[in-house]
Amino acid sequence: MVVTGGMHAGDFINVLRNGEDYGLKGINYAYQEGEGGIADALKMAESFVNGDKCVVVLGDNIIADDITPYVREFDAKGGCCIFTKQVPDPERFGVVEYEPVGGGIADIIEKPQCPPSDDAVIGLYMYDNTVFDKIRELAPSDRGELEVTDLNKLYLKEGTLDCHKILGTWLDCGTSASLLKAGALMHLDQLEVEDDE
Ligand code: G1P
Repeated sequence: MVVTGGMHAGDFINVLRNGEDYGLKGINYAYQEGEGGIADALKMAESFVNGDKCVVVLGDNIIADDITPYVREFDAKGGCCIFTKQVPDPERFGVVEYEPVGGGIADIIEKPQCPPSDDAVIGLYMYDNTVFDKIRELAPSDRGELEVTDLNKLYLKEGTLDCHKILGTWLDCGTSASLLKAGALMHLDQLEVEDDE
């Protein structure tokens, strides 16, 4: 299911159509009114997910790694799974703070001024079927959005959050520079794919 919004939602349908070019039998679309945040957008997929687990991928993220092994592992476990990538500019992202002993996750901080690590949380999330009840518990952040980081922190609090480091290329195309880089890497076919199996 593709959840989109704003003035250019129709462009997604123009490009993706029914998904035949990508080997799909069809695509469900939903339109998010306003800018309620990623967790608010996910709410629109509740009837589509229909009590199952789900994988969420942000449309402006490029992930070169094959995520199949992670999906299989998650399917056997449940809870929530997030992924990180070491970046030079962690203040742009959700960032993981590690426990001083043992290396477990102590916290996740959205766009921290003083990042506690260089590990950005990428836009790939796997959730069990409690995710929609958890979204209903969320309150809007200072920027007026239901934050995916707050959603992930509910799983962290209940001890069901798992985290993997992504090895291959990851790009968030949220700035003109990163969009340019993504275009160049795609054009030159230079996305690095690494397999940690
Ligand atoms: C969102 C999330 C952030 C995450 C990023 C990945 O940021 O809120 O935690 O690190 O996606 O692309 P946003 O695109 O809303 O700035």
